[in-house]
Amino acid sequence: MKRTTGQDRATTSKWRPATRAIRGGTWRSEMGETSEAIFLTSGYCYDDAATVAARFAGDEEGMTYSRLQNPSVAMLEERIALLEGAEACRVQASGMAAMTAALLCQLSAGDHMVTARAAFGSCRWLGDNLLPRFGIDVTVVDATDNAAWEAAIRPNTRVFFFETPANPTMDVADLEYICGLARARGIISVIDNAFCTPALQRPLEFGADVVAYSATKLMDGQGRVLAGAVCGSEEFINEKLLPFQRNTGPNLSPFNAWVVLKGLETLDLRARRQSENALKVGKFVEGRVPRILHPWLDSHPGKALAQKQMDACGPIFSFVLDGGREQAHGLLDALQLIDISNNIGDSRSLMCHPASTTHHNMGPEGREAMGISEGMLRINVGLEDPEDLIEDLDQAFTRAGL
Ligand SMILES: Cc1ncc(COP(=O)(O)O)c(C=O)c1O
Repeated sequence: MKRTTGQDRATTSKWRPATRAIRGGTWRSEMGETSEAIFLTSGYCYDDAATVAARFAGDEEGMTYSRLQNPSVAMLEERIALLEGAEACRVQASGMAAMTAALLCQLSAGDHMVTARAAFGSCRWLGDNLLPRFGIDVTVVDATDNAAWEAAIRPNTRVFFFETPANPTMDVADLEYICGLARARGIISVIDNAFCTPALQRPLEFGADVVAYSATKLMDGQGRVLAGAVCGSEEFINEKLLPFQRNTGPNLSPFNAWVVLKGLETLDLRARRQSENALKVGKFVEGRVPRILHPWLDSHPGKALAQKQMDACGPIFSFVLDGGREQAHGLLDALQLIDISNNIGDSRSLMCHPASTTHHNMGPEGREAMGISEGMLRINVGLEDPEDLIEDLDQAFTRAGL
């Protein structure tokens, strides 16, 4: 097993994104396989005792145990790092394993974190419930209010953690300002970039320190596996993340790593086509609902910022009905083509009611503070023909009394 000829990092980092997505981080075995090999192995054998001792001592390169290294997993890590423009990446078993590792690997009792009000429910749970249990204080701010980030800083603030656009309110936060502020004050910015992936938004270009992913979303993109990733500098990954990950073990299965590698080959195509479809579908939905939260439409307050940071709108947007949960559930039940599902980034169009699913655990007050009403629905627009999606929405809107 060795790195494919000509694939040293100096060469691969000069490739353009489309080439990186297909070929980046490819290692080949002596079989010369075209598609990356899946190494479904937990351990490795050695020719002699001196070899294993040298590997454990770090004097010789090579695999020792799959919680520490695995060739299929390493290929995915190298490819994601290349796409992100990051020095290094490590992958985890799910997006939440990635977020947890990215935060816990660097925070200690007595530290303080500032995080965004609008976020995926489990990401909010980390700040509301988990970190305080370990003596880490957390302040929640409106991520769209730049002044609020500065006002929340304390002498012991170590981390800023947020996502943009946010799930499901589509709040757009100012990456350049917030990450710049963090850097100026010696704070590490951790960005959950699951909605966009590097195909549509690269936070490191705006000064972010760490970019974390649910690779379950657009990276796999076909609703098959759970996966996560954390990208950052060699120093952050090797000195902070790796000791945490190697000893706590939130590892990604080599099989799932292979599935995501295949997903990355088509990531750019899918992200762009799904964005085009989401814009067409969004324009139709805008004419039928009282309120739409779509970063590429004039009605979105963060449109200019979104267009500065993102290459396209992405597949996801939300809208709000006046008739509360009853009307929102009625619309879901009337869908014939679009599935009722709480996943996102899939090549299938999926719709969900955040208040009764992804953000159910926040409780009514928590949801109200985040701007998630009972009439809100979130859609992930897939790769189907957008005209079929519009026809399905048209008949569902009519049946739901819209
Ligand atoms: C923005 C965001 N971050 C993190 C996650 C968690 O990812 P996973 O389900 O892979 O653990 C999700 C899942 O929906 C998400 O939408």
